[in-house]
Amino acid sequence: DPRPLDAEAVLAWYDRHARDLPWRVPPALRAQGVRPDPYRVWLSEVMLQQTTVAAVRRYFLRFTELWPTVFALAAAPLDSVLREWAGLGYYARARNLHACAQAVVERHGGVFPATAAGLATLPGIGAYTSAAIAAICFDERVAVLDGNLERVLARYHRLEVPVREGKEELRAVLQLSVPQRAGDFAQAMMDLGATVCAPRNAACLLCPLEPGCAAARTADPTAYPVKAAK
Ligand code: ADE
Repeated sequence: DPRPLDAEAVLAWYDRHARDLPWRVPPALRAQGVRPDPYRVWLSEVMLQQTTVAAVRRYFLRFTELWPTVFALAAAPLDSVLREWAGLGYYARARNLHACAQAVVERHGGVFPATAAGLATLPGIGAYTSAAIAAICFDERVAVLDGNLERVLARYHRLEVPVREGKEELRAVLQLSVPQRAGDFAQAMMDLGATVCAPRNAACLLCPLEPGCAAARTADPTAYPVKAAK
């Protein structure tokens, strides 16, 4: 069922309801053509991989205060990076973070590659992170599929198999929906998943995707995504 999403409705919702997060560019500056900084977007995405937005906020502010550029982070002693990371967990992420900053400086003169394919060659940057940075910073029209989007899309399409089995199908229909404003679209979908189409509560009355959503037509939209058999 490859129905594309109404990306225009999603973007109109985002223009009104985007969360104010420290790695985003506020709408007034966006309107003047200011683009997100790849260093800040990369740092936020690595921090957000296994940690909530609420917990990441203060770490992000601390890191960018101590190390405002990729050059500063690359030059920092690893042990101070690990010390500041304490509490975020998964210390391999912090080691990769430092290695990636050094790779950007040494291999790319401190400039992050501007494509998902280029970004994916860097340490610790996998399929999700490379797509997220490329979309958010460079509006590359790639599908950015995180856990929030998997839930929104599984509901929209009433995916009757667990996400693990239907993921490539979801990615394909998402890809068909990505508009020119690819970065805003990706972040709009993340915000929708976090605030409207939440795991245990689907606020369909507030959702710009409600008109086309298959699960919104059922008694319990939160029954999707279906769980894998144990
Ligand atoms: N989760 C991961 N990346 C995010 C982003 N850019 N905005 C909101 N939530 C996110």
